[in-house]
Amino acid sequence: MEKIQYKLKKECNHIAFIMDGNGRWAKKRLLARHFGHKEACKRVIEIGRACQDIGIKAMTLYAFSTENWSRPQDEIDHLFEYLDEFFLSNIDEFMERGVRVQMMGEMDALPLHSQETISKAIDMTKNNSSFFFNICLNYGSRQEIVRATKLIVKDVQEGKILESDIDEKLFSSYLYSSNLPPIDLMIRTSGEQRLSNFLLYQLAYSEFIFTPTCWPDFKADKLIECLEEFATRNRRFGGLINK
Ligand code: IPE
Ligand code: IPE
Ligand code: MG
Repeated sequence: MEKIQYKLKKECNHIAFIMDGNGRWAKKRLLARHFGHKEACKRVIEIGRACQDIGIKAMTLYAFSTENWSRPQDEIDHLFEYLDEFFLSNIDEFMERGVRVQMMGEMDALPLHSQETISKAIDMTKNNSSFFFNICLNYGSRQEIVRATKLIVKDVQEGKILESDIDEKLFSSYLYSSNLPPIDLMIRTSGEQRLSNFLLYQLAYSEFIFTPTCWPDFKADKLIECLEEFATRNRRFGGLINK
């Protein structure tokens, strides 16, 4: 497999992707929507490899939102089938490459077969540390924030922490993303310019790129274009010094 040759021009440890446009990609080819999700899985592994080769430490992928349950059941069934296939066919490579699989979102509502596959992938890779592959399933940022709040209240009530301990650092540690580096760049494909309930807390100072390319067409060359654009951004974090 050919390694992507690209030297990062600006520090970038963590990229978050809103993988949008699968349905439109399929429709344009007169295919059922789920074929877009099938093709999307190929890009996930390719972009994952590219990120790791380039020296990025973590990727977070929005794969299924808390709002996506309102889709037709047939599309949902196909999606979770492809997800299982994805993990089953890539787990060996994840182990070889030292990739750690993590998930954000509530596992309980996922189809049982997917719960099993994902739990296995998370467990098998838990000691890997070369790259984080963090997938958002049944994920909603509002749900995540409410969940963190409830967990904090519980820990205060049980005396595990004091109310006065609550600050931004502690709050972050109650989010699903607690062990991941800050997100430097968020890329949304398909031309939509909104967050759709994605990482509202974590993206506070991330750079955003909205590309018209649909996710099934988002290959490594498109990722590099985004990284070139990212390199031109001035990250000031409220100060005056460009980073
Ligand atoms: C993104 O593609 C994948 C999921 C939301 C699961 P879409 O399925 O939303 O594709 P479009 O936006 O309808 O084209
Ligand atoms: C966001 O895409 C969710 C995922 C990519 C998993 P949607 O297609 O669900 O978002 P909206 O409905 O266009 O905002
Ligand atoms: Mg969409």
